[in-house]
Amino acid sequence: MRPWTPVIWAYALLVISPVGIAKEFTTSVVPETEVNVLKVYAVLAGISYKTLTSWDCESCSLFANTQLVDFFESKKERAVGYVAVNNDLKQVTLAFRGTDNAAQYITDLQFRLKRWPDAVKDSRVHHGFLDAYQTVADNLYKLSTEQLAKHSGYNLTIVGHSLGAGEYKIRRRDAVFACPTMLALASLASVDFVMRNKTLANMMTVTTFGQPRVGNKEYVAYYNSFNLATKRVVNKRDPVPHLPPRILGYRHTNEEFWIKPDNKDNQTIACPEVDNEANPDCSRSVKLSEYERIDHSWAWNIPL
Ligand SMILES: *[C@@H]1O[C@H](CO)[C@@H](O)[C@H](O)[C@H]1NC(C)=O
Ligand SMILES: *[C@@H]1O[C@H](CO)[C@@H](O)[C@H](O)[C@H]1NC(C)=O
Ligand SMILES: *[C@@H]1O[C@H](CO)[C@@H](O)[C@H](O)[C@H]1NC(C)=O
Repeated sequence: MRPWTPVIWAYALLVISPVGIAKEFTTSVVPETEVNVLKVYAVLAGISYKTLTSWDCESCSLFANTQLVDFFESKKERAVGYVAVNNDLKQVTLAFRGTDNAAQYITDLQFRLKRWPDAVKDSRVHHGFLDAYQTVADNLYKLSTEQLAKHSGYNLTIVGHSLGAGEYKIRRRDAVFACPTMLALASLASVDFVMRNKTLANMMTVTTFGQPRVGNKEYVAYYNSFNLATKRVVNKRDPVPHLPPRILGYRHTNEEFWIKPDNKDNQTIACPEVDNEANPDCSRSVKLSEYERIDHSWAWNIPL
């Protein structure tokens, strides 16, 4: 008997046993009022691409009664974004953008997984994302919590978009597909903040656009266990959410909001996970040959 035979038997048992039975995934159409809230977050994420010295950019004017707390830029620009306070929305906003430098740095590190958080057994996240986040973590935690302490009853909203100008090449059989490079610091920041102060979990919303996968299934289980109000918006056939690949152990956190392709109204559907497993009826159904790079630069009618 060859040594790998037991593995095949174990796999066969899994397939025919109840564990292998298809999970009950469902989707639902997101009402327009809720989509409108997400559009606000998309504009806030888009503002992170401006180099701000005060709250005075063109889209900034859509948010009255807002002060810039800090525009941050880590060494070598690996992590860039801003912290702002909006007194109308009663909200402290922490926004991240991807940068070309970060993209370059992360491409060099490839998809290596690193243990994090240390306290969570077997949890691993993308080495490059973690490194970029950790350069700014203490400062962002301090700035955000100072503002929350100053403004009682305010929420913390973390937003992120992952554009980078570099390119990842995905190869599958004879197809080579070039994707924009990617960065995902909003997910790491939310876990890190909640680990530092559990109370923050109840006053935090996390909204990301075109987010790549961040960690392995243990990380996903840990993230999902906080039940943070997280919305991971995926626009149509954006390739970035398909990276890094599942085959390397990467999984997505709950909950995807998918803007469906091929409908002019940009209908959005909510795609809850089951057992920390991404919903197969949403962006996971998009094939490699169908990826559209340009879809990474939009959400509904808002450019990112
Ligand atoms: C945790 O956050 C809450 C809400 O901002 C705050 O009231 C509390 O003082 C914080 N606790 C610590 C230990 O920082
Ligand atoms: C803060 O967030 C919580 C949870 O997402 C929500 O229930 C609450 O209405 C929010 N409060 C404000 C002032 O936005
Ligand atoms: C739908 O999204 C596309 C970009 O993907 C945008 O050009 C178009 O304006 C959007 N339509 C509506 C009705 O939001």
